[in-house]
Amino acid sequence: METIFSGIQPSGTLTIANYLGALQHFVQLQEENDCYFCIVDEHAITVPQDRLKLRKNIRSLAAIYLASGINSDKSTLFIQSEVPAHTQLGWMMQSISYVGELERMTQFKDKSNGKEGVSSSLLTYPPLMAADILLYKTDLVPVGDDQKQHLELTRNLAQRFNNRFNDIFTVPEPSIPEVGARIMSLQEPTTKMSKSDENEKGFISMLDEPKRIEKKIKSAVTDSEGVVKFDKENKPGVSNLMTIYASCTGKSLDEIESAYSGKGYGDFKQDVANAVIDVLKPIQDRYNELIDSEELDDVLDKGADKASFVANKMVEKAKKAMGLGRVPKKK
Ligand code: TYM
Repeated sequence: METIFSGIQPSGTLTIANYLGALQHFVQLQEENDCYFCIVDEHAITVPQDRLKLRKNIRSLAAIYLASGINSDKSTLFIQSEVPAHTQLGWMMQSISYVGELERMTQFKDKSNGKEGVSSSLLTYPPLMAADILLYKTDLVPVGDDQKQHLELTRNLAQRFNNRFNDIFTVPEPSIPEVGARIMSLQEPTTKMSKSDENEKGFISMLDEPKRIEKKIKSAVTDSEGVVKFDKENKPGVSNLMTIYASCTGKSLDEIESAYSGKGYGDFKQDVANAVIDVLKPIQDRYNELIDSEELDDVLDKGADKASFVANKMVEKAKKAMGLGRVPKKK
């Protein structure tokens, strides 16, 4: 049994990309491992948020986790800001991070590029993410491709701390799926699908109505060749739809290519839409039952208690290793 940790930001309703790249793998992993899944609300405030929307998104994300199959008897589901150990260790991680290495993070560059009033927490986001992971002696972190660089930094920080102070942290490995780790925008298939995209046609929200899903997939950008073939460079739109289809159905890209040989895009797009709807519809039904339920609060209360219990012990170890506070009194 390994320890698994992953987090998702409540920065908008999740997209099918978050589900295919991350969430669906969390569900599989919980069967045989000790899993912690987090709603990372403190990460979300690194860019401006509307307070009421943020609250709503936090609850909605908790319901989506459960509706997607996270089982609170097997996994610990909790909200980051309800476990203060995250920011405590986050500060210690910041203290061993270098400004230069943080400035090199591509997500920081993308999110700050050309913007005024960039928050300092956008820069120090990765040390907080490292803290999230290191608090639980995490072995494996299931994420999409865009988190690879943050995971590499987490590994460096863990090793740096262990060498400099005391060997207390497990150095985690990323777990990135072979298919579906980078789902692209439906409208601009050379940029990744993102829940914060201003163009709503570019992404499928996990809560989109079936009709809307169908419409978005039918209007997805492809090309004029009319051949269903996987070729990311020359046919990014079709390749992206094939990836979505493969991740939703478990079919291989080869199988898909041969199933649509000589058929054009009409049938193909309809089948992709149906596959996405088949995945999302049961999740949406369960979501509607959960969103206003007490069950949801009970799960989050229990999760925060369990996570705090484990995380506080690690914070004490880290404080001791760094020489913070006082020598504990002898009993
Ligand atoms: P976030 O909230 O942006 O995304 C949540 C998960 O979805 C994956 N993902 C994608 N997968 C495939 N295709 C895409 N287009 C796509 N977009 C997003 C992400 O890789 C991620 O796995 N920094 C993290 C949250 C975080 C975290 C952590 C993750 C904070 N602390 C500790 C793991 C461990 C983020 O912003 O994810």
